Amino acid sequence: MLDVSQLRSGYGRIPILAGVSFSLGEGEMLGVLGHNGAGKTTLLKTIAGFIPVNGGSVKLCGSEMKAAAPHARARAGMGYVPQGRRIFPSLTVKENLEIAAARSRRAIGEVLELFPRITRLLDRKGGALSGGEQQLLALARCLCARPRVILLDEPTEGIQPSIIEEMIETLKNIRNSERLTVLLVEQNLECLTALTDRILVLNRGSIVKEMRGAEAHDREALAELMM
Ligand SMILES: Nc1ncnc2c1ncn2[C@@H]1O[C@H](COP(=O)(O)OP(=O)(O)OP(=O)(O)O)[C@@H](O)[C@H]1O
Ligand SMILES: [Mg+2]
Repeated sequence: MLDVSQLRSGYGRIPILAGVSFSLGEGEMLGVLGHNGAGKTTLLKTIAGFIPVNGGSVKLCGSEMKAAAPHARARAGMGYVPQGRRIFPSLTVKENLEIAAARSRRAIGEVLELFPRITRLLDRKGGALSGGEQQLLALARCLCARPRVILLDEPTEGIQPSIIEEMIETLKNIRNSERLTVLLVEQNLECLTALTDRILVLNRGSIVKEMRGAEAHDREALAELMM
């Protein structure tokens, strides 16, 4: 579904990604873990098309995307929820969802079945939601565009524990009901281990380790890696 090969990118002349390769199969949820500044956000931004590719390739369902603009990648099925929730604060929750659903003609009710908390807040302004609610809205909005692959950048960052649980449940439901392919950058080990059994560890722009199966569920081992 998503094939990333020898991907290189950076900011201006500063190289950050130093040749990252991995493949993500349909319905798979792949975790990415790494220290602050490791290049996790840079990886997602490069895949989504917000940073130019300096080398390597990004293929979505076999089609080369490395030269495509972000909106073209989005139209091809790439959903991206950036770090730090970017919703429209002055629009209502419903309007936020409708904008995303317009092009895909997806009924927002179908997405809302996965988001009971958001369903109760449809007429509220986006900016008047709590951080966790905004994060749920950002995810719901992404799904309204009917993506095939979603890139999620730290969906639990800075949100309350009670909503973290809800985010984990929501992501589990999405994985099970929509068979979506997800690349999940996450520093919350509970979230990561609950959702995926394959984790890439990124350090200084390179994948330094891949953990699978029992290893990917071993929170102590993961925590040690992060020390
Ligand atoms: N706009 C930018 N211009 C120049 N350098 C940048 C820019 N954004 C990020 N960087 C640098 O690129 C490197 C990787 O940053 P990135 O945001 O990808 O890290 P991250 O793994 O997502 O970190 P965090 O866990 O803090 O979100 C860091 O050294 C950072 O300082
Ligand atoms: Mg980041």
